[in-house]
Amino acid sequence: MGVEEEVAYSRISMRTTWTFHTAGQLLFGRDAVGQLGDVVRELGGRRCLVVSDKTLAAAGIVDRARAPLVAAGIDVHVFDGGEPEPPVAVAEECVAVGREFKPDVVLGLGGGSNMDLAKITATVLAHGGACRDYSGDGVVPGPVLPLVCVPTTAGTGSEVSAASVLSDPEQATKFGILSNYLRPRVAVVDPLLTVSCPAKVTADSGIDALTHAVEALTAIDNANFPLPSGERSVYQGHHPMGDLVAERAIELVGRFLRRAVADGNDLEARDGMALAATLGGMAFSNVGVAVVHALEYPIGGATHCSHGAGNGLLLPYVMDFNQSACLERTARVGRLLGEDVVGMSDVEAAAASVAAVAKLRDDIGVPGRLRDLGVSESQLPAMAEKAFGVKRILRVNPRAVTCDDLLSILRAAY
Ligand SMILES: NC(=O)c1ccc[n+]([C@@H]2O[C@H](COP(=O)([O-])OP(=O)(O)OC[C@H]3O[C@@H](n4cnc5c(N)ncnc54)[C@H](O)[C@@H]3O)[C@@H](O)[C@H]2O)c1
Ligand SMILES: [Zn+2]
Repeated sequence: MGVEEEVAYSRISMRTTWTFHTAGQLLFGRDAVGQLGDVVRELGGRRCLVVSDKTLAAAGIVDRARAPLVAAGIDVHVFDGGEPEPPVAVAEECVAVGREFKPDVVLGLGGGSNMDLAKITATVLAHGGACRDYSGDGVVPGPVLPLVCVPTTAGTGSEVSAASVLSDPEQATKFGILSNYLRPRVAVVDPLLTVSCPAKVTADSGIDALTHAVEALTAIDNANFPLPSGERSVYQGHHPMGDLVAERAIELVGRFLRRAVADGNDLEARDGMALAATLGGMAFSNVGVAVVHALEYPIGGATHCSHGAGNGLLLPYVMDFNQSACLERTARVGRLLGEDVVGMSDVEAAAASVAAVAKLRDDIGVPGRLRDLGVSESQLPAMAEKAFGVKRILRVNPRAVTCDDLLSILRAAY
């Protein structure tokens, strides 16, 4: 460890208590999907609802998950109606299928979209009502049906996270359900399932993983996290365990994301990105995400761009806005991505970090301007206002933001 790093680590705050939650168990490795029968049996499962989509069925991935379940004598029903950035109506359909089938385990198979559908389905099947009833942080009243999540993208970290995100087409935005009860009992991460991801899905989801790790690393300090008394949140600001996983995730993205996008069959890169995504999920789902994610809600809602593309576009602009409040941590990002920052001051290294993230985004083909997504300038004020309403994530941001600040970030990104 260099002197600079020692200084950085000596700033770890021990003034507060913090917690770290993740999936109950993580099973990681090539061909891990073959163990799904044992996984579901160990949870006492006899009837498993697999939540997936038609693209994954056509790619043969649904069959790869179903075969070991059937071999273990489990009754399997597949809901293949999942859609990217799932609208709440699709979630209600999945719940209706679940009410009919009466599973004892719900298995999310896919990217974040299908895993999030599985999470809300397991919630509504356990507690009744409608999907919207659980919107917010800490609304889910108790344990949900046992959940197994099997990611087929390397990005969201939903397999270990406490979140489920749904689109609300009526309001042209998204809403999140946040609860530690939504953490899967088991995350089965098989990097081979990501090999068939097209380059765009690899790029978008990969830069989402980077966004999770950067927003967690540069979040407000846990000691200063402004949680009103009596209020609970799964997010708590940055803390040593969050830093550990976020830093490793950033390093892995720096080494492997370009390679995974350039050659989907580069298995070492797929392994690295699968781990990066899961570690990024562990980081953000305890520490929090911040302004990038708040702004992505209305942008995704209006343009239907993927979550990852919206986040990747915004990330360098938000880092630039935030850096004065977290200079040393922003400086760390570039070094972790592999930039040579030896001899640079924190100010110089932070600027190099922002440039490195923008270059990575451009190299993998994620758009760099809101106009490229079809946003018009007149939409920006309403987007800023919508994002300003997402207080539970804005309070994670290292720098306090006004609605005008959000608008100026959007203008810079326009
Ligand atoms: N719950 C969380 O913690 C969390 C975190 C971040 C993002 N999200 C949500 O996750 C969603 C985005 O998820 P995503 O980026 O993983 O993409 P996705 O799940 O939306 O999938 C994108 C597309 O890629 C296809 N696909 C997925 N895996 C494939 C594979 N192996 N081979 C071929 N095609 C494949 C899917 O069928 C889909 O059409 C958004 O709704 C976002 O809001 C949730
Ligand atoms: Zn995200």
